[in-house]
Amino acid sequence: MEYTIAVLKGDGIGPEIVNETIKVLDAVSEKTGIQFEFQDYLLGGAAYDQTGSPLPEETVAGCKNADAVLLGAVGGERWDTLPASLRPEAGLLGIRKALGLYANLRHVKIFEPLRNSSPLKNELIAHGLDIMIVRELTGGIYFGKKGREGEDTAFDTERYSRFEVERIARTAFGLAQKRAKRLCSVDKANVLESSRLWREVVIETATDYPDVALSHMYVDNCAMQLIRNPGQFDVVVTSNMFGDILSDEASMLSGSIGMLASASLANGAFGLYEPIHGSAPDIAGQNKANPLATVLSASMMLRYSLGEAVAADLIDNAVEAVLKAFRTADIYEEGFTLVSCSEMGDRVAALLRA
Ligand code: IPM
Ligand code: MG
Repeated sequence: MEYTIAVLKGDGIGPEIVNETIKVLDAVSEKTGIQFEFQDYLLGGAAYDQTGSPLPEETVAGCKNADAVLLGAVGGERWDTLPASLRPEAGLLGIRKALGLYANLRHVKIFEPLRNSSPLKNELIAHGLDIMIVRELTGGIYFGKKGREGEDTAFDTERYSRFEVERIARTAFGLAQKRAKRLCSVDKANVLESSRLWREVVIETATDYPDVALSHMYVDNCAMQLIRNPGQFDVVVTSNMFGDILSDEASMLSGSIGMLASASLANGAFGLYEPIHGSAPDIAGQNKANPLATVLSASMMLRYSLGEAVAADLIDNAVEAVLKAFRTADIYEEGFTLVSCSEMGDRVAALLRA
């Protein structure tokens, strides 16, 4: 099979981590015969610098024509003073919206060799950890009406419609059916009207999934439960903003935010794949970043968009094996070999070729 992959390297460490991921995918090609055609497009600050827009039309068109999209990260101090619509983040939110990527899957799991890297006590994750966070990605406060009222007041609006909640709930219920059949919907229904609608719709949708045990949790409690007893969660479904926050928190359970991959899916198989971490401008260009979240995002791409589960397993296994000996700075522990971003890519690729 041959697939066209739109590649959006973005800013900061984006180019470094994506280059290592392409190295790994080239090794997958050699091993499996799957062919990839990579097409680069601009996004974020890099796009703004070259074209005056953080999301050029050519990028949207290129992504729409591809089988899947691989993204690094966007943003950096250099662009922080630009008007909101020209900021790198506007490019990221814009591409999610333009491609209809309403379901963001963030899979938090323990890589066995990283068990000791989690800053949390080992016994918390002793019984394993495998949480699928399903974050609504094209609605809520990220896309609601926002603005200024005079000099001293500003507002953002959390707004959800029935169809938006129902479709993300269906994604989450469907995933739960293929996993441990438990779904926890996270909201703030004790305070927010949009959360009360969210809960109503999730409960209605549940009737189509009688085999899934549904529970509800307030977001503040969920933030606490993730640290207190993370093993209780199977699939978590939540709004755009709550999902953003809880997934960063949950990433630390797996050792480092540098390990957490994500898939952003539209209806059908099309998707965009990116690490959940940002562009880390402080270490950009130093060949220090951990490329594994992006490498694992490429594995999700093979699994969810391209239907190449065997190749995805090859990548996951190679990452797991490499972690037994080699570590980037963010997951470094004594007794392991400290490697750079590019060495990490080389190691994973070498294992795939072996
Ligand atoms: C993420 C990021 C983005 C978000 C930022 C960079 C706009 O934090 O993908 O989680 O808030 O969605
Ligand atoms: Mg985030």
